[in-house]
Amino acid sequence: MALPDGSNAALAEALGREAGADNEPAAPGDVSHCGQKKTQNNLCFRVAERIIKPLPGVEPCRFAPACATRPPVAAFSPPAHRNEIPCRLTAESRKGRHLSSRFITYKKGGEQMVEMKSRWVMWAVLATAAVGCLCSCASMDNLMGGKAGKTPMDIDVEGFGRTADGEQVRLYTLTNTSGLKAQIMTYGAIVTSLEVPDKHGEMDDVVLGYDNLPAYIENSPYFGAVVGRYGNRIGKGKFTLDGVTYTLATNNNENHLHGGLKGFDKVVWDDEPVWRPDAVGVRLSYLSKDGEEGYPGNLKATVTYLLTNNDELRIEYEATTDKATPVNLTHHGYFNLTGGERDILGHELMLNAAEFTPVDEGLIPTGELRPVEGTPMDFTRPATIGARIENDYEQLRFGGGYDHNWVLTRQGREMSQAATVYEPTTGRVMKVYTTEPGVQFYAGNFLDGTITGKEGKVYQHRYGFCLETQHFPDSPNKPSFPTTILRPGQTYETTTVYRFATK
Ligand code: BGC
Repeated sequence: MALPDGSNAALAEALGREAGADNEPAAPGDVSHCGQKKTQNNLCFRVAERIIKPLPGVEPCRFAPACATRPPVAAFSPPAHRNEIPCRLTAESRKGRHLSSRFITYKKGGEQMVEMKSRWVMWAVLATAAVGCLCSCASMDNLMGGKAGKTPMDIDVEGFGRTADGEQVRLYTLTNTSGLKAQIMTYGAIVTSLEVPDKHGEMDDVVLGYDNLPAYIENSPYFGAVVGRYGNRIGKGKFTLDGVTYTLATNNNENHLHGGLKGFDKVVWDDEPVWRPDAVGVRLSYLSKDGEEGYPGNLKATVTYLLTNNDELRIEYEATTDKATPVNLTHHGYFNLTGGERDILGHELMLNAAEFTPVDEGLIPTGELRPVEGTPMDFTRPATIGARIENDYEQLRFGGGYDHNWVLTRQGREMSQAATVYEPTTGRVMKVYTTEPGVQFYAGNFLDGTITGKEGKVYQHRYGFCLETQHFPDSPNKPSFPTTILRPGQTYETTTVYRFATK
C-alpha cells in the first residue's frame, strides 16, 4: 500500500513493533501480543491485539483486530479458489466503543496471507492516523466507522452464482461512513446496486439492473457494466492502424458496439478488495487476449471501483498492451435518481459541453463538432431531460432521443466536471467528474417495457439514463478526434467520479 510521503518513519515509530511479534509478551505502553487460534476448519488464524503508540498530537487508540473464520458459505463451497476463506475483522476504540468492519481475505498457501491482510489493514489505519487523525482517533473512526450516526466502512463479499462455464462470480458490497452502499459483481464489472439517500435521508437504489446473475447473462443492455475494449461504436467494425486493417465483431447492424459480441461486460474479472483511508473498493482485472473480438494485442485492463466517504463512486481505469490497439473504457450505469419510481424525463441535466458530435442514421459520428447553442442538445444551463427530447430535430430522430457524445469543455487533462443531474422530487443530485474528453448521454431510448428488473420493476421507455464518460465514438476512423490508440510501453489511465448529494 502506498503511504503518504514522509509518513513512513512516523508510522514505523507508531507501530512500535511489527506484527511478527506474535506470542511475545506485551511490553507495557507498547503492547503487541498475538496468539494463534485453531478454527473449526483446523486452519490457523492470527488474532492480534495492540495498543498503537500515540503519534504526536494523536490520542492513543486501542486497536484489536481479530480475524476469525465463519464456516464457508454455500458460495464458497467448494471454494472458487482452494484455500479461499472469507474473514471478518472487528475493532474497538480505546473507549470501548465497538467499531466493526468486515473484510475478506484469501488464504492462499497458509497463514501468512491472513497475517498480511491484518497488517495491511493496520497500515491503512496508521496511514489514516498519520495524515488526518488529530484527536480521538477521528480518522480511525472514519475507517472503521463508530461515530454517532456513522456506519463503519465495510467490504463484504458473497457468491453470486456461476456462469455457464462454471466460473464463480462474486458480489462485493461496499459501505461508506454515511451508509451509502454499492454492490459490484465480478461478471462484467457490473454495479448491480447503488443506494444513496434522498433529501429526507431515505436510501434508495438509483441504478437499474437485475436481482440475479442469469438475468444479466441472458439479456442485459449493458446494465451497470464496464464496456470495452472500445466503449461505443466503431463504424462498420473496421479500422486501420499502422497500415494494417483490422476487422472487429459487428453486433450493432454493420457496426461494432461496446466491444463486440463478448465484450468486457460479459467476462468474469479477477478481484481483490481495496482499503484506502477514505474509501473502500474492489480492484477488478481482466486480460483481453490478442485477437479477442478482432482487436490487436494482449490488453491488461484493471478497473478499481471505490466508494469514498465523500459519497462518490470513483472509477479508476488502467490498461497496458503489447501491441498498438484502440482502448476506450467506460461505465454503463443506468441511473434513475427517483429510485425507479418513474421515468427519467423529469430529471434536470446540465452538461458542461458547448459542442457535440453529430451522427448519421447508424449513430456513427460524421466527424463534425457542432455547437449546441440554439439546439435541443444545449444543456449548458440545466433543463429537464424531457423538455425537448421529442423536438423535431434530425439528431434526435436518429437517436430516438438523446444518444450522443458531448464534447466536454475542459482545460488540460485534470479531472473536471462533466455533468450535474438533479431530481426535484427526491432532491437527489449526482455530479459527474472525469478526465475524459467526452460523455455519451443516452436517455434509455431503447428501454421499452420488455425488461423486468430488480424487485419486479418493469423498465419502461426512458426509465434510466447513462452518462458514459469516454473518448469520442469511432475515433479510430476519425483522425481529427483525440486519439484512442494505446501503444506498448504506455499506460492508459482515466478516472471518473459520480458524486451524490441532496438539495
Ligand atoms: C448507446 C446506445 C445503445 C446502448 C445499449 C449506449 O451506450 O449509445 O445507442 O443502444 O448503449 O444499451
